[in-house]
Amino acid sequence: MGGLSMDQAFVQAPEHRTKANLADADGIPVIDLSPLAAGDKAGVDALAAEVGRASQDWGFFVVVRHGVLAETVARALEAQRAFFALPADRKAAVRRDEAAPLGYYESEHTKNVRDWKEVFDLVPREPPPPAAVADGELVFENKWPEDLPRFREALEEYAEAMEELAFKLLELIARSLGLRPDRLRGFFKDQTTFIRLNHYPPCPSPDLALGVGRHKDAGALTILYQDDVGGLDVRRRSDGEWVRVRPVPDSYVINVGDIIQVWSNDRYESAEHRVSVNSHKERFSMPYFFNPGSDAMVEPLEEMVSDERPARYDAYNWGNFFSTRKNSNFRKLDVENVQI
Ligand code: SIN
Ligand code: FE2
Repeated sequence: MGGLSMDQAFVQAPEHRTKANLADADGIPVIDLSPLAAGDKAGVDALAAEVGRASQDWGFFVVVRHGVLAETVARALEAQRAFFALPADRKAAVRRDEAAPLGYYESEHTKNVRDWKEVFDLVPREPPPPAAVADGELVFENKWPEDLPRFREALEEYAEAMEELAFKLLELIARSLGLRPDRLRGFFKDQTTFIRLNHYPPCPSPDLALGVGRHKDAGALTILYQDDVGGLDVRRRSDGEWVRVRPVPDSYVINVGDIIQVWSNDRYESAEHRVSVNSHKERFSMPYFFNPGSDAMVEPLEEMVSDERPARYDAYNWGNFFSTRKNSNFRKLDVENVQI
């Protein structure tokens, strides 16, 4: 990270620092999605039950044989590596700014402590440019790096594959809650999904800093590609301990976000996670944040609410939340703790 040296801005409070000997998250379910392609009902039902159990017990699971082509992933990774290897001034040319939050940046803070990483954000579905931009309105327009012609192509191809996987997972989540498979689809009509490319350079003090501070994901579902270096930690629900989600080749790490927690009226819970860094090897990851349209009102689904289990959240508008992080569920959703 051009010229970045360890300074106080990166130092976590002692209780939030990571440990070198963190245990593996052994119990995280690794779920084989191939029954989806086979299409037999019993197989898909069993799969949905597995997804449901994992979402309940961990809020996290790993999927393999997910149908995303290895070449598609490889091309996206190659584009990501090529971008972060550019000299600082070329990356700065696509830097995000306050009004246009997509593109490159290297100074993300999670809970006021700086993260040890650099980032590039893009949206797979760019909204049409507004006729006039109101004061304070954000413009979600992609910034494509010049002279990296394959970057855009590779990421557009990747985004398409991710969307296909995201809708399959959404269907499994719906089934697992006893809902119609397409019950949640309508929320994603004008989706605000985005893709984040993360680069975590080696860090001289991995005992003091984090790649990403502890947080929960505010959206619906996160589909994370991580390379083979490792560093993703999740807080285990059963005992509150931090454990490491070891990389599994050709897999994705899936986690349910706050929106699914609300839709399910707390049957599923979005789990706290963070990224530890190390002193010897850079790490790359690509989360796909699958988020509904900005018009979507988020509230417990009526099928999830009963006399015995009244709604645990008030409705909130995702678009408002996304742009301001303000809604009446702040405390219940532990909103100090989310990242979007
Ligand atoms: C994140 O949770 O934002 C990043 C996850 C990762 O890089 O593994
Ligand atoms: Fe996250």
